[in-house]
Amino acid sequence: MRLSLHVNGTTRAVEAEPRDTLADTLRDGAALTALHLGCEGGSCGACTVLLDGEPVRSCIVLAVTVEGREVRTLEGLAGDSVTEALKRAFHEEHALQCGYCTPGMLVTARDILRRFPGPDEAMIRRELAGQICRCTGYMGIVAAIRRVGEALQETSGAGA
Ligand code: FES
Ligand code: FES
Repeated sequence: MRLSLHVNGTTRAVEAEPRDTLADTLRDGAALTALHLGCEGGSCGACTVLLDGEPVRSCIVLAVTVEGREVRTLEGLAGDSVTEALKRAFHEEHALQCGYCTPGMLVTARDILRRFPGPDEAMIRRELAGQICRCTGYMGIVAAIRRVGEALQETSGAGA
């Protein structure tokens, strides 16, 4: 079947079977390969994208259910100031080793900072509970998110 998906601000026509997941449809049908597939069962978070602004695990969402809704992948967050700051902080804090979890981590980290300005370590670790890093690089990941959160708080404080 032919689906019309609104992805990263543009409408795309993609071919998909009724049983196809959003993850497979984005990767195979729209060449959006930043999202990764790890567990394919909703447990690891590597496939996280935004659906109507909220993070979802695209491996357990059927593509046919998202017609008419706004999908945003990591590619679609290029240029977003918080995402770009997170990318820099991940690099500087050595928050990635193999990088397989990184796209999902970045999408989720941005969402954490959207909901909790200046989160402390405990809060970040709690909110990251659904994101699995097989390389166990959590210290750097948490440090990177914390660094960006602190910078955002300073910026918003300076403007207050
Ligand atoms: S691949 Fe989707 S949650 Fe693991
Ligand atoms: S950096 Fe390898 S899985 Fe996280």
